[in-house]
Parts: sequence; C-alpha cells; structure tokens
Amino acid sequence: MEERSSGKVLAYFSLMNDKVSLNEFENKTEFNRFRKHHFANEKRIKSYPAAKIGRFAVDISARGLHIGSLLLNFIKYFFKGKNKTGCRFITVDAYINAIPFYKKYEFKELTISDKDDEHTRALIFDLKQLDKK
Ligand SMILES: CC(C)(COP(=O)(O)OP(=O)(O)OC[C@H]1O[C@@H](n2cnc3c(N)ncnc32)[C@H](O)[C@@H]1OP(=O)(O)O)[C@@H](O)C(=O)NCCC(=O)NCCS
Repeated sequence: MEERSSGKVLAYFSLMNDKVSLNEFENKTEFNRFRKHHFANEKRIKSYPAAKIGRFAVDISARGLHIGSLLLNFIKYFFKGKNKTGCRFITVDAYINAIPFYKKYEFKELTISDKDDEHTRALIFDLKQLDKK
C-alpha cells in the first residue's frame, strides 16, 4: 500500500500456501479436538488447506490508523470470496507483540505446543466465521 502523494510504502504483506495438520499439534488428542471443534459432523481428513500470512507490517509513521486492520480484513475476504484456493483457514506465526492485534480480529491460538515460544505463536482464523457476518 502506497501513500498517494509521496509514493512511500505504508504497509505490505505476503502470503503463502499452508496447511493445518497433525504436525502442528502437541499430540493427536489436541489435533482431534481441533477437528471436532471445526468439523463436528464432517469426515475427518489428515490436513486442511490454509493461507499463511508470511510478512505483515505497517510503516511506523502510519500505525494506529487502521491500515493493518483494513489489510487483514482484505486478506480474509480475498480468500473467502469464491473460495479462492479452497482454503479454510488463515494462519500466521504472530510476533508476541502483535498477538493482541490478531486476537482483536478473531484469530485464535492454534496449539499449546508453542505456548512457551519467546518470539512467535501460531494463530489461526477460521474463514467459516465470515458466514455469520
Ligand atoms: C501489528 C501492526 C501490523 C498493526 O497495524 P496498525 O495499522 O497499526 O493497526 P490498526 O491501526 O489497524 O489497529 C487496529 C486496532 O488494533 C489495535 N492494535 C494494533 N496493534 C496492536 C498491538 N500490537 N497490540 C494491541 N493492540 C493493537 C489498535 O489499537 C486498534 O484498536 P482500536 O480499533 O480499538 O483503535 C503494526 O503495528 C505493525 O506493523 N507492527 C510491527 C510488525 C508486526 O509486528 N507485524 C506482525 C507480523 S506477525
């Protein structure tokens, strides 16, 4: 995203394909709990397609202006619209300082297995939530 007058980059993000599978969880019980929660009455499969936010930042001069939340919303609806890439989840390895930002927009912790990580935590947003809006 560029500032119109100066051409300065105010924000950017990058995306990649991802999946949610047993590997992300502490153990099979935790993975089964995840599957039960998100896919109560559906056939259980081994991995679920996702899109991952790789990089995401707003220039320090433009923080707090709701550019970050605008872009996050854009990403959610971009993948939800016509179910691009067939993914069900948006994932992010969120910096510890940014966790409250993602949580404000309904991202949840994926697993307890990284609960003591000092730098990042895996968070997830279920695109199905947008059906309710
Ligand atoms: C995290 C980041 C992208 C947020 O972008 P932003 O444009 O400043 O955020 P917004 O203005 O859209 O904030 C929306 C709301 O979230 C809150 N919020 C934003 N960042 C927050 C944070 N780190 N902790 C707690 N709340 C935060 C804002 O206060 C605002 O709340 P409000 O609606 O009640 O006013 C930005 O601070 C940033 O680039 N940080 C450094 C890089 C980074 O950590 N990126 C994440 C990589 S995983």
